[in-house]
Amino acid sequence: MKAIRGATTIEADCKEQIKERVGELLNKIKVSNLLEEEEIVCILFSNTKDINTYYPAKAAREAGFFSCALYSSLEPQIEGSLSLCIRVMVLAEIERKPVHIYLHEAKSLRKDITENINIALDGPAGSGKSTVSKIIAKKLDILYLDTGAMYRACALKCLENAIDCKDEKNVSNIIESIDIKVEYSNGNQQTILDGKDVSETIRRPEISMLASTVSSHFCVRNKMVELQRKIANGVSCILDGRDIGTNVLPDARFKFYLTASPEVRAHRRMEENNKKGYNQDFETLLEEIKKRDFQDKNRKFAPLRKADDAIEIDSSEMSIEQVVTFIEKTIQEKI
Ligand code: DC
Repeated sequence: MKAIRGATTIEADCKEQIKERVGELLNKIKVSNLLEEEEIVCILFSNTKDINTYYPAKAAREAGFFSCALYSSLEPQIEGSLSLCIRVMVLAEIERKPVHIYLHEAKSLRKDITENINIALDGPAGSGKSTVSKIIAKKLDILYLDTGAMYRACALKCLENAIDCKDEKNVSNIIESIDIKVEYSNGNQQTILDGKDVSETIRRPEISMLASTVSSHFCVRNKMVELQRKIANGVSCILDGRDIGTNVLPDARFKFYLTASPEVRAHRRMEENNKKGYNQDFETLLEEIKKRDFQDKNRKFAPLRKADDAIEIDSSEMSIEQVVTFIEKTIQEKI
């Protein structure tokens, strides 16, 4: 059995409004929780003392909730609390995680679940963005989007079609018809290029530099940013990239800029690559990281830059766990 919580407010104490808002609240709870009528055991209401014209329980019956037990009660009048408010608890025989619903002025009661959490995590290559993002996404049960994977897919498409990533004209032609999709399997992002899963291929070391080059063109950024905003729209999510806080989600509630010295980043990348069987020596990787930093920071459109309102984290001497704890703490303090 699970308890689903919810609340709504009315603008005036009248029967019609109570019926409408109670019906709206219960139907949203039913749809969002995929509830079958038989799964609902009982619905308990409480309302503030300024509601006197109709029982919310009666409104529920009239909204079509016939087979469960219904109950209404009065709440104590607490100074400073919401007025004209109806709270509900639906007890249902389900195993799934409940989705709680707060509507109208009652949204302010549970900002943690009614406001989407958008986290922008920017920073240079090898700063640990994707590892940290994956952990945060899992802990907060929110979507993770690795935007770099999309630019990597663009680079792969150019490579496969023998197009020089610097050649804006030819890149533009191929990008026009590119089909990039992001899917999730067991919570892991899969990057689909023209119907093919390229999640592994785009991690090849030679793709990194090409992705940086191809991402400098306006036509590429324009298309990818549109796709990224579509994926992020209306959901709680963490996006990692170079321009999330400055360009993709400028209104993100939380912005972080994760960095580390080039040497530390090259070292991390080397270990990561070695594990995947790509053997690159430290000096080559360090050179590449510095070149990529320069290219990403100095391009004309949406260069890598810390957003003015982003919190900078230098992870050179921090473990992944320490970075995650810092981000989590910052978020918890604000919600
Ligand atoms: O994060 P990554 O290494 O997978 O990114 C590959 C390249 O893609 C990076 O060097 C620059 C580009 N990129 C970008 O321009 N904007 C983003 N939001 C993400 C990546």
